[in-house]
Amino acid sequence: MAEVKRYTVTAALPYANGGIHLGHLAGAYIPPDIYVRYRRLNGDDVLFICGSDEHGVPITLGARKEGITPQQFVNKYHELMKKSFEAFGISFDIYSRTSNKVHHETAQQFFLDLYNKGVFTEETSLQYYDEQEKMFLADRYIQGTCPNCGYEKAYGDQCERCGTSLSPKDLKNPVSVLSGLPPVLKETKHWYLPLQNFEPWLREWILDGHKEDWKTNVYGQCKSWLDSGLQPRAMTRDLEWGVKVPLPGTEGKVLYVWFDAPIGYISATKELRPDDWEKYWKNKDTQLIHFIGKDNIVFHCIIFPSILHAHGEYILPANVPANEFLNLEGDKLSTSRNWAVWLHEYLNDFPNKQDELRYVLTSILPETSDSDFSWKGYQTAVNSELVSILGNFVNRTLVLTKKYFDGKIPEPGELTAADDACIRAMEEAPKKIGAAIESFRMREALTELMNLARLGNKYLADNEPWKVIATDEKRVKTVLFLSLNITAYLAALSEPFLPFSSEKIYGMLKLERCKWNEVTGFLLEPHHHLGETKLLFEKMEDEPVIAQINKLQAIKPKTTAGTNTESEKKSPIANPKPESVSYDDFAKLDLRVGTIEAAVKVAKADKLLQLKVNLGSEVRTIVSGIAEHFTPESLVGKQVCVVANLAPRKIKGIESRGMILTAQDESGALKLLQPSEQVSNGSVVS
Ligand code: 2FM
Ligand code: ZN
Repeated sequence: MAEVKRYTVTAALPYANGGIHLGHLAGAYIPPDIYVRYRRLNGDDVLFICGSDEHGVPITLGARKEGITPQQFVNKYHELMKKSFEAFGISFDIYSRTSNKVHHETAQQFFLDLYNKGVFTEETSLQYYDEQEKMFLADRYIQGTCPNCGYEKAYGDQCERCGTSLSPKDLKNPVSVLSGLPPVLKETKHWYLPLQNFEPWLREWILDGHKEDWKTNVYGQCKSWLDSGLQPRAMTRDLEWGVKVPLPGTEGKVLYVWFDAPIGYISATKELRPDDWEKYWKNKDTQLIHFIGKDNIVFHCIIFPSILHAHGEYILPANVPANEFLNLEGDKLSTSRNWAVWLHEYLNDFPNKQDELRYVLTSILPETSDSDFSWKGYQTAVNSELVSILGNFVNRTLVLTKKYFDGKIPEPGELTAADDACIRAMEEAPKKIGAAIESFRMREALTELMNLARLGNKYLADNEPWKVIATDEKRVKTVLFLSLNITAYLAALSEPFLPFSSEKIYGMLKLERCKWNEVTGFLLEPHHHLGETKLLFEKMEDEPVIAQINKLQAIKPKTTAGTNTESEKKSPIANPKPESVSYDDFAKLDLRVGTIEAAVKVAKADKLLQLKVNLGSEVRTIVSGIAEHFTPESLVGKQVCVVANLAPRKIKGIESRGMILTAQDESGALKLLQPSEQVSNGSVVS
């Protein structure tokens, strides 16, 4: 019997501060899901670990914005994220969370182990402090100008534009994101991981040890970090929310989220396997593999391994197959701008089409460079690949077998040279797909799977059983026998990529699930009865695709109320609108009358005005692209119609909550839509 191998596979713990979007799925969840499903089919001992990252500034800031406690906030998003993963068949063995007790205990023990070994250095230094809010401004609590690229909204831990990792003191013109005020400097004590001491070891371990087997993007980023010289990094923060520092006299201090989060992989394993978790983390025969997005490389390749190495009892990652980023319709995905396709919304709009999305995302995974998801591309891939190649082959094979042989697998006759060639190609498929998956080339693996379906289609087209049936039934029996066996191979080999469709094909064939190494020879024997035939994939029509495009288009900030930005005009998503929308869809809009109470120009944006609009029960801030048509003074006191329930979006750093309606004729002149007579603010427009 083949030796069983052991794998601990982790997928980045997503922050519990929103839903899961396509970028998450393509970056760090579909690739490991393909990998673990394949490993399980090989009979390997695999644990697939994930959970919500519930600490850190993204959580506390999010909770503050929603006006709820951090615990309420993470409870809400943890559930949403967990459900999305489940619905898409991401087959975690556990989806845990870092607010669990076992995690707090594990992370604290880890910190104490390193503390007792004298790994940390203690340092009292001056840190930024918000005097109004009475708190230190760690990481994302502070914004300023990036010293590297000049971006004015860089955070205290990273510039989101150029990706440079920063510390608050690197920022020029820092301001508190809470009060908007410049911070003062105040003394505080923290515990630092002296990363510079790990540099020689890291160089040897990564640069000498993993040049061949780590992806070039990962290796390259590590090299550049090491070449620029590592600095000590604080492992504690002055915050209330997080894992408390387990040392006396450290009230108001918690562990740095990037100290506790990766330890979350270990805590989750403990939770799942309390009795034998150690073999997945301490046994040298176990391969630890971290699947992440490229923004997490330094944490998984440099900081966490240094922590594990310093501890001494743990294995190190054998590989960290990080992906680049997925863009959406040519623009960077952004949660804050809501420029995203959310899985819970996709599921709502396309129930039972999870495999379609899994397929499209796998075919464009950003494995070596950033890639782009577009709804048109999605439609083309579904229609011309899933429907026309895979679905079509399986359907034709099953329908013909039903028609000619009453759904019973026919007895093959003598095999021709072409049949033998087809069988040889079939036999190659599991090897090729497996080799690609093992090397983390999931796109190539998917192409090999589709090549098997292409082979089937070509085999049918070459042999034309629908014509030959008139003259040579025996030959048709052979052709369908082979085609049915290709279908059985497709059931088995598609499982890592398209688990729902794989199950459907197995069901239609009435075949038991096979292991990967059982995919050889003929999986279906003559006389076996097929199950009921169902369509595997449906054609994706224009209308739902256009609806998605329009949904995105509505999110893009407008430069004028009726005209799109230059980039939108060029963008493929501009213009399409469905011929009609249902009344229910229209009724979702909350249209109100409000009075503009204040209007000012938005700095460094020629086309934007920031308006304060009184809607009766509240005064809203609305950023509107009408500055070229109206002076601010001319607007004050005017009544306007407002889309009051438009999702909030940030425009030039200002949160805009609503949109005012205007009309524009061919001359380009813009007019406000106003009630013919004064009405009370908040009046409903219908
Ligand atoms: O970037 C992120 O979304 C982090 N929450 C990833 C954490 S991965 C691990 F360390 F837990
Ligand atoms: Zn920058």
